[in-house]
This record gives sequence, structure tokens and C-alpha cells, in this order.
Amino acid sequence: MNQVTIIDGVAVSRTLRQEVSSRAAALHKVGVVPGLAVILVGDDPASAVYVRNKVKACEEHGLHSTLDRLPADTTEIELLARIHELNEDVRVHGILVQLPLPQHIDSHKVIEAIAPEKDVDGFHVANVGALMTGKAGFKPCTPNGVMKLLEAYDISISGKRAVVVGRSNIVGKPMTMLLLEAGATVTVCHSKTPDLAVHTKDADIVVVAVGKCNVLNGAMLKPGAIVIDVGMNRNGEGKLCGDVHFASVCDVAGYATPVPGGVGPMTITMLLVNTLESAERVTAQHP
Ligand code: GUN
Repeated sequence: MNQVTIIDGVAVSRTLRQEVSSRAAALHKVGVVPGLAVILVGDDPASAVYVRNKVKACEEHGLHSTLDRLPADTTEIELLARIHELNEDVRVHGILVQLPLPQHIDSHKVIEAIAPEKDVDGFHVANVGALMTGKAGFKPCTPNGVMKLLEAYDISISGKRAVVVGRSNIVGKPMTMLLLEAGATVTVCHSKTPDLAVHTKDADIVVVAVGKCNVLNGAMLKPGAIVIDVGMNRNGEGKLCGDVHFASVCDVAGYATPVPGGVGPMTITMLLVNTLESAERVTAQHP
């Protein structure tokens, strides 16, 4: 029988969030409330749920948050004007524009309008460039959350072979950079990769961030591999599933993250951490 360790993202999140609460309380004592401004454009139901959870998590951990729910026909100019206001607002330490944005809005322009020092998503080119070059900056929440999970389970990365499946700006690309920075030999696979299993069978760490059920199963793994599932999908019957076939993966892997309860809670946790750190930085600069 294979002995797999299920990585508990809820437990790791709980510990990190307790720390957020106590650091937020320390800021309250000097009259600072860490503030996150969230903007949602349009009425995509999944985005509405994500955004609600982000706002709720702020309330629960001593951060102030505001939510702008803008109609789907909001113009790019209107959205940019709102971001400029938030950039100037000293009560706001983090700005998050939920993606995806409606087609008529250029998401690059919107992200570049956010002041890099308030870009708690880590999506601005200044923060992406910082990550690429090893400079300090905000790291994107989901891949950074994956790194914290590996750290919490004392999983060493240096010298390991890692495969990242998916090449999105939100997860795949920054995940690749973080693993590379930590000393892994990283292969990036994606929808055009002819034979995914050739790569995953050789990997010590596999991170799957594709947005499709059952992209990876146990037969595609090396025994004892560490499998991180970033997916959050609904299958044909409307049931929540990740990107990996969890049961067969657990027969082969050394570690695996479940969905739900694996990476998911870490994304919001790292958003809280980034917003808190932004507030701490401003407070240290202007005590
Ligand atoms: N859409 C999916 N994930 C994210 C995220 O982490 N941040 C933002 N802003 N939008 C998203």
C-alpha cells in the first residue's frame, strides 16, 4: 500500500492567518488598519464568489476592505479612473482587480495602472520583473501559496526536478520562476505539449494549473512524487474537482493536495499576507 501524505491547506492557512491577525492588531495599535480595495467588473458568478471570499477573509483577520462592483459595460477609462483614485488613497494598501475582465477592457492596461507598491496580486510588470530577477516585490498569491505549502511540509526543492503544467500569467509562469529560484530544474508543459506523461513521469514535483479535470493521473507519475493541484473545476455532473485524478494519484504519490482544502485557501491567505506587508512597509516608512 502506498503511503501518501495529504497536504492540508486549511491547516497551513489557519496558522498563517493567525499570524496575519496578530500583525494586523499590532498595526491597529499605532492607528493603521491594513486596507484592501477589490474591484469586480461584470457579473461572472465564479468571480463574484472569489471576491466575496476575499472580502470576508479581510474582515475576519483585522483588515479593512472595500468592494467596487462595477457593471459589465464599465468603460476602460472609468475603470482606470477608479484605480487612480485608489492609488492616491492612503487608507488603501492593496488593490485587486478580479480577472478575467470583460473583453472590451485591456487587462494589461488595467494592471499597469495599479501602483506597483499596491499590486498585492503581483501582476504588474514591475512585480513580475522583480520576481524574474530575484528582486523584492509582491509575489502572485497562488504560486506563492504553493511554496508556503511545500515549506510547511519541509519538502525541499533545491536539486529536484519539477514540472509545471500550465503557462498562465496568474499561476504557471510565476510558479515556474519561484521553483527555479528555489533551485529546482523546471520543465513547463502546456496544452501543446505532445506527451505530458513523458515529463511528469520523471518529475519529483508536479504542479498542475490547467483548469480541466483529470489532466494528471497516477500512471503518469514517478512513485513518491509531490503533486500540487491548483485546479478548481466542475465536472459533467457539476461536482467540484481539481485538475488531477486524486484517487489514482494517491496510489502513487508521496504527497498530494486535495481539492477543496489544498491550494485554494492559500491563495486568499497570501493575499492577506501581501496586503498586511504593504501596510507594514508604509507604516515603517511614515511612522
Ligand atoms: N482570477 C483568478 N485568480 C485570480 C487572482 O489571484 N487574482 C485576480 N485579481 N484575479 C484572479
